[in-house]
Amino acid sequence: MKIKKFKICIVGTGYVGLVSGTCFAEIGHNVICVDNNKEKIKMLQMGSSPIYEPGLEKMILKNKRAGKLSFTTDIAQAVKKSDIVFIAVHTPTKENGETNLQYVENVSKEVAKAMDKYKVIVSKSTMPVKTGQRIKEIIAKFCPRNITFDIVSNPEFLKEGTAIKDFLEPDRIVIGIENKKAEAIMRNLYEPIKAPIIFTDIESAEIIKHACNAFLATKISFINAIANICEKNNANVQEVAMAMGLDKRIGPDFLKAGIGFGGSCFPKDVSAFINVAKKSGYDFNLLKEVKKINKKQREIFLDKIIKNVPDIKGKSIAIWGLSFKPDTDDMREAPSVDIINGLIAKGAIIKSFDPVAIEKAKVIFKDKIIYCEGAKEALKDCDALIILTEWEHFKKIKLEEIKKLMKFPIIFDGRNIFSPQKMIKAGFNYYSIGRKT
Ligand code: UDX
Ligand code: UDX
Repeated sequence: MKIKKFKICIVGTGYVGLVSGTCFAEIGHNVICVDNNKEKIKMLQMGSSPIYEPGLEKMILKNKRAGKLSFTTDIAQAVKKSDIVFIAVHTPTKENGETNLQYVENVSKEVAKAMDKYKVIVSKSTMPVKTGQRIKEIIAKFCPRNITFDIVSNPEFLKEGTAIKDFLEPDRIVIGIENKKAEAIMRNLYEPIKAPIIFTDIESAEIIKHACNAFLATKISFINAIANICEKNNANVQEVAMAMGLDKRIGPDFLKAGIGFGGSCFPKDVSAFINVAKKSGYDFNLLKEVKKINKKQREIFLDKIIKNVPDIKGKSIAIWGLSFKPDTDDMREAPSVDIINGLIAKGAIIKSFDPVAIEKAKVIFKDKIIYCEGAKEALKDCDALIILTEWEHFKKIKLEEIKKLMKFPIIFDGRNIFSPQKMIKAGFNYYSIGRKT
C-alpha cells in the first residue's frame, strides 16, 4: 500500500531540523518538531522563528494554521504519534576533532523508549560514518522487545540563507538504507520533491555528506590560496576564478575568494572528517591544509589592516557585516569574530553594523564593541571601513556618501564587493582580496 502522507517527528529544532520540518509540512506531511529548549518551543508555538532565514517564519505560520505543523518539548508523545522520526540535533566537534555524539545518543535512547510500533529512524544531522550503526544498537537495546524498526541516513545539504529553496529544490536527495521496506517509505516521503534520489548503504550516505562539505571547503581554500598568489603578482583572482569556473569539470560555484569559510558546518565537518580518516587509518593531509589555509586567510587580512592603518590604537574602525555569510544571523565560526578580536587586541574602537546578526553578536562581543543601528551610522567619523559579510544592502550604498561620512577613506573589503577601479576613481584607499589595489 502506498502511503502518501506521513506523520513525522523531527527531534532538534535548529537550522536543519526546523527548516526540514517546516518543508515536510509544506509538501503535505504532518510534522511535530521537538526540542528540549523550552524557550525555543514557546516562540515557535506562538508563530515566531528563533532563527533568521528568509521565508521561514511565513511558512511556519502557514503550516501551523493548516494544522500540519506543531511544536513540543515532549519527545515521547511526538515519537508515539509518528511513523518516521528524524534526528536533527547538533553534532559538535570536540577539541581533538572527534564528533561529540552525546546528543544523538541521548535522543536515540529517548526515541527507543517511546517506541510503540514499527518506525523508521532517520539521521538528518551530519554524522561520522558508522553513527547509523551506533543509533541502531541504542534503539535495539532500549526499545520494547516486540517492536521492529529501520534506520536510515538522509543527510541534509541545505545552506543557510537559501535553506527553503535548497530543501524543496535540491540537486539530489541522498538516502542510505538497509532494506527495501525503508527504501519504499523514504521514496514515498520525498515523492512531492522533484529531484533524483540516490539510494546507498548507510555508511556511504554518511560519507557522502562529509565528502561534500570537505570538497566545498577545499574549493574555497584553494581559491584563497590562488588569491594570495594573485595579490603578489598583480593578477585578479575574480578573473582567474571566472575563467576556471567556465571549465565544466571545475564549475563556477564556491570559488569566491575572501576571508575564509565559517558557519556551523564547514569548520566542524572538515575537522570531523580528518578525524574519521585518522580513525580509519588514513592521514588526510589535504584537509589539514584546507583548515590551515582557512585560518591563515583571516590572519593575512588582519595583518593587511594593521599594516595599512597607522597607529591603530584608539582609531575608530567601522565594521560592515558580522554573520558568517549574508542572509543569516548565524555567528557560529564567523570570520568576523577572529578579525574583530584581533583589532580589539590592538586597541582599535569597533563600530559594527549587521542587518540581522547584532543580537547574536552581542552574546559574543558583549560591551567590547559598539553596535550601530545602520551601516551609515557606523561610518560616521571612522578611520577605516572593514567589510566582513557581503550583504546586498552594502553594495547599494552610494560611494560619495560613504566617503563623506568617513574621516579617512580607507576600505578593507574582505569579500570583494566593490570594483577596485571604481573605488580608486572615487578616491578611496581600497584593499581587497587577491586583486590589485
Ligand atoms: C546541527 C549540526 O550542526 C549539523 O551538523 C547537523 O547536520 C544538524 O544539526 P543545526 O540545526 O544548525 O545543525 O544545529 P542547532 O541549531 O544547534 O540545533 C540543534 C537543536 O537540537 C537545538 O535547538 C537544541 O536545543 C536541540 N537539542 C539538542 C535537543 O532538542 N535535544 C538534545 O538532546 C540536544
Ligand atoms: C554549508 C553547505 O554549503 C551545505 O551544503 C551544508 O548543508 C551546510 O554547510 P552553509 O554553511 O549554510 O552551508 O553556507 P555556505 O554557503 O556553504 O557558506 C559557508 C562558508 O563558506 C561561508 O562563510 C561563506 O562565506 C564561505 N564561502 C562560500 C566562501 O568564502 N567562498 C565561496 O565561494 C562560498
